[in-house]
Formats: sequence, structure tokens, C-alpha cells
Amino acid sequence: MHKSRSLWQSNLGFLMAAIGSAIGLGNIWRFSYMAHEHGGGAFLVPYLVALAVAGIPIILLEYGLGHREKGSSPMVFARLSPRFELLGWWMPVVAMFGIMLYYSVVIGWCVNYFFHSFTLAWGSDPQTFFFNDFLQLSSSPAEFGGFRLPILLATALVWFSCWFICYRDIRHGIEVAAKIFMPLLLLLTAVIVFWTLQLDGAWEGIRDNYLSADWHKINFLAADPEARAAAARVWVAAFGQIFFTLSLGFGIMIAYASYLPAKTNLARNALITAAVNCGYSVFAGLAVFGIVGFMAFSQGVTFDEAIVGGPQLAFVVYPQAISLLPDFNSLFGALFFLVLIIAGLTSGVSLVEAFTCALTDKFNWRRKKVVTALCLLGITGSLIFTSRAGLYLLDITDHFITNYGLVLGGLLQCLIIGWYVGPEKLRQHINKLGSKVPQIWNFFIRYLTPLVLLILLLVAIRGDLA
Ligand code: PHE
Repeated sequence: MHKSRSLWQSNLGFLMAAIGSAIGLGNIWRFSYMAHEHGGGAFLVPYLVALAVAGIPIILLEYGLGHREKGSSPMVFARLSPRFELLGWWMPVVAMFGIMLYYSVVIGWCVNYFFHSFTLAWGSDPQTFFFNDFLQLSSSPAEFGGFRLPILLATALVWFSCWFICYRDIRHGIEVAAKIFMPLLLLLTAVIVFWTLQLDGAWEGIRDNYLSADWHKINFLAADPEARAAAARVWVAAFGQIFFTLSLGFGIMIAYASYLPAKTNLARNALITAAVNCGYSVFAGLAVFGIVGFMAFSQGVTFDEAIVGGPQLAFVVYPQAISLLPDFNSLFGALFFLVLIIAGLTSGVSLVEAFTCALTDKFNWRRKKVVTALCLLGITGSLIFTSRAGLYLLDITDHFITNYGLVLGGLLQCLIIGWYVGPEKLRQHINKLGSKVPQIWNFFIRYLTPLVLLILLLVAIRGDLA
């Protein structure tokens, strides 16, 4: 009854799917509002440190584990020791219910805004349009206020698309979709960035706010306790962002690597995934900071007056800028939201796949049934985020999942591999296959990465209690 495991057709197909999971709304929508909130260009420093200290070591760990044990995260951890199985479940469950439920709704917003671009439906006041007309945001998170039908329909469409792709298996579904969507995504993003760079004021916006850094914002050793606490929050946010953007701590990369053939260069794949993903974020950031610079220039205001922080950046600032463009506004708007939709879908698929893989591995259930059941459950769960209180709930969920859920997942993985299994075993497995991981990786997984993650958790808890 045991079926042989599906495999990617080619390494390139795997890479595209893994990069497709990594590049998502997080790279454009989340990265840019994080960067803006946390000191513009200065944010890149903790971001890159987080990449080196946690991102790359843990992506290597997840690829290595998934590939060596050939299984989804629950199976992999159960094989290490039955008492770790629960951690293995925690990861895809958090991915699915902590992230995908709201992630699909944000892609749904993008679908709506894609259509709104054609008529510039947001008029002259995109902020009021977004909060009052589109979300019809209730006055508090406790006030549920009913569902928004356009958002609900678009979210259902997103779930349907993920269902359609995952239903068709790894090679015929996820890999085919990645091979179509990823080149398209890179191309469209390049169009948007170069288009933006042509606009008046764009370059000044980038130069003064993205390429220059306010070092005080990240100085966690500052004398003033308030500045110190604020800087610590920036570091927590940067680590959270790295986990989110590389899809780490969810069991996704474990599942994806489990579908790789026996001979494959894991270390090289890990580096390529991380580099392309983070390079993409920094590149897409040019479009966001550029467009705000253009807006500031056109309206004769400062950069800080032109920008609105938070998750609404893409849905308030962008529409406003789109309306101000000298020509082809609708085309630009539609392209921008299409980029978000494509980026989001390939990530959404990986979130569904992580849980699917866990269930099919454990119970030997048929993939088609599992995917159908999960997507039905998912759309039902997403309902809550399509309500009029959706934006508040999204903010709260995102905060807790990224700052605690993922970081905790990463920390526990490091402890188990570092102290129970021994990183050397995993390193040798990876090294047998191609490019070599240096020995210092063992030190990272055992000491440095978990220590830093532990400190971050404590800082996050302290910040939330304050
Ligand atoms: N990495 C994706 C992004 O940056 C989001 C994601 C998170 C995808 C978790 C899968 C798992 O948007």
C-alpha cells in the first residue's frame, strides 16, 4: 500500500518551487513596511545579520533534515525520537492555521485591487477607500461586524487555485506552476522597478530613505533605555522577517527537500534560495521607496508625510501613487497587484503542501482527498479574516506567529539537532552530496543561533508585556 515518494523532475524545478515559497507577499508587502517602520536603510543591517546568523544556518538544517529523512516535519522529528513528533506537527499546523488563513485573505485583497486598478476605484482618497469602503473596518477587534463579500469571493478563488495546484501532485502541480510563475514574476517585478525609477523624485526617495541609514534606530547598546528598547524591537522584527521570508520554521523547506532525488547539491541549493529571495526583497524595495519618493515629489510633501506605515502600505500608498502617474496608471496598477498575487500564490501553495505532506506521510491517505479537505477547512477558517474586524485580527496573528511561533520553531530545531542528533551528522550528509558546509556551522547550530533566538524571544516577550 506504501507508495513511492514523488520527486521533483529537475533541480531547477525544485529551486523554483522553493524560491517561489520564499518569495511572497512577505518580500514586497511585508518587507517594505518593516523596512520603513524600522529605520529605512538601517533595517538592512539587522536583516542581513539575521540572514547570516539564523537564515542560512537554518535553511541548511531544514534542507538537510528533509532530504536525509525523506519526510514531512512530523515524520522527520518522529524518526529522530517519538517525543519530538509534536514539534514536527506544530510547524505545519502553525503554517496552515497561523499564516495561510490570513495570507490567503491578503492575496484576496490584491485580487480585488487588481480589478480596482482598471477603474482607479479608490478615487482621490485611497485611505478612506481602503478602510471605509473596501474593508469597512469595524471600530474594534472585538466587533466582528459581518463578512465582506468581495473579499470572501477573492479569498475563495485563492484557495481554489492552491487546491488546483497541490491536487495535481509535486511534479505536475507545484513544479509546473513554479516554472510558469517564477520567471513571470521576476520579469514583471523588473518592469515595475524600472518603470518606477523613471519617475520624478523616485531616485531621491530611494537615496535618502533606503540607501541611507539612521544608525540610532538599530543601536541596541544606546545609553537611553527607551532608544535601546526601540532598537531591540527592530532586531526582533528583522529576525522574524528572515524566518517569514525564507519560509523557515514551518516545515515547508523540510517537505520540499524531501522530494529531492538522492543525489543533489543541498548546500548550493540553500545558498541560491536564500540569495535570490533576499536579493529580490532588496530589489523590490527600490520600487516601494521609489514610488513614495515620486509621491512626495508630486505632492510637494516630505517622504515621511507621503508614506503610511503598516500592512496598508500596498493598499493605500500604492493606489495613491498609481492615480498620480502621468500615464498608463491602470496598467501599472494592474501589474503591481498581479506581481503580489503571483508571489503570494506560489507561497500559499507551499503552506498547503507542508500540511498535506505531513498528513499523507503519517496516515498514508490519498493526496487528493487530503488537499481537498485541507482547502475546505482553510477557506472556512479564513472567513474570520474576511470579516470587518479582519485587519486587526491579521495584525495580531501576524505579530504573534512571526515573533514567537516561527522563532520558537527555529530554536527548537536548533536544540534538537545541535544537542540531541549532533549537527556533525547532518553536515556530513550535506557534504557528501556536493558543496561543503564549513565546520563553523556546527557551532552556529549548537550555540550561536539558539542563543540569539532565545534572546530574541525574551526581548519580544518583554516588549509585549511593557
Ligand atoms: N515566505 C513567504 C513570504 O515571504 C511567506 C511564507 C511564509 C510562505 C511562510 C510560506 C510559509 O511571503
